[in-house]
Amino acid sequence: MPPTITVRAFAKINLDLQVLGLRPDGYHELRTTFQSIALSDTITFKKSRGPFRIECDDPAFPVDRTNLIWKAAERVLRLARRRDAPSGVTVQVEKNIPMRSGLGGGSSNAAATLRALCALWRVPASEAELHHAAARLGADVPYFLEGGTTLGFHRGDLLFPLDDLAPAWVVVVVPDFGISTKDAFGWWDVANARQVGQVGRVGRGGGVGQVGRVGQVGRRSQRRRTNDLEAVVAKHHPSITKLVRALTKAGAFHASLSGSGSAVFGMFRRRSDAQSAARTLAGPRTFVAPTLSRAACRRLHLAAK
Ligand code: C5P
Repeated sequence: MPPTITVRAFAKINLDLQVLGLRPDGYHELRTTFQSIALSDTITFKKSRGPFRIECDDPAFPVDRTNLIWKAAERVLRLARRRDAPSGVTVQVEKNIPMRSGLGGGSSNAAATLRALCALWRVPASEAELHHAAARLGADVPYFLEGGTTLGFHRGDLLFPLDDLAPAWVVVVVPDFGISTKDAFGWWDVANARQVGQVGRVGRGGGVGQVGRVGQVGRRSQRRRTNDLEAVVAKHHPSITKLVRALTKAGAFHASLSGSGSAVFGMFRRRSDAQSAARTLAGPRTFVAPTLSRAACRRLHLAAK
């Protein structure tokens, strides 16, 4: 194994997201469709002497133990039955996925780190062990071990790979503010105070009620894809609604908030249409990227810089 590994960690959008209720563990029960897009961070893991180090040209990117890359490194050592702290690797991050945007950058970095350090440190982890380690790092992290078009239940960590979506071009617009996922779910709780109690009881009581609700949501999503967090987030940030409308007006066949925001995306069949929509919505953080299949994520993950 070479002493350096460079990987790409791709962003995701949520094609839809239904919040089914508050779980007894404080998380929210979800039904969401994740979709990878070709917007990525590039992460290089280099064997080096001395302590574990994270380097990034973006000063806003935390480089201490709070970073999910660091926590993922700790998880890999636990998978190797080691109790010591990570050391002997320098991690260089080229950050392109905006933070606090609902595009999953931190989670994607964490999943990429699990795979890369298992390879660099020769830790023979099974897919089940990796999934378990990923779920402990964050609700979205297991998805990034898979990529492509994937249905997520529970906290977003019970995954069902779907057939790849017909290829599309995605315009992603990231406003000049970020949103904390915790805050967005808190806003949903306030807006849905009645239902929260109801579904919380269903969650504790077992699966029957949950399956019923999931079935209901399944029918709803066949009519139109929606993100239940969009309305509550837009209450606090009205510019979200304007961006969704602008993308629809520019010809997107689907436009929505991604995850808990703040990124908004619009989907187009043709690259040229996506590019002209991006020009209309021009901003410092507007991206045009194609959707990625699961196979493409795997293939491009290990592509060198
Ligand atoms: O798991 P992760 O750290 O990414 O989640 C961040 C926060 O988002 C959690 O602390 C929780 O408040 C909220 N969350 C939630 N339900 C989910 C996923 C995230 O309430 N399914």
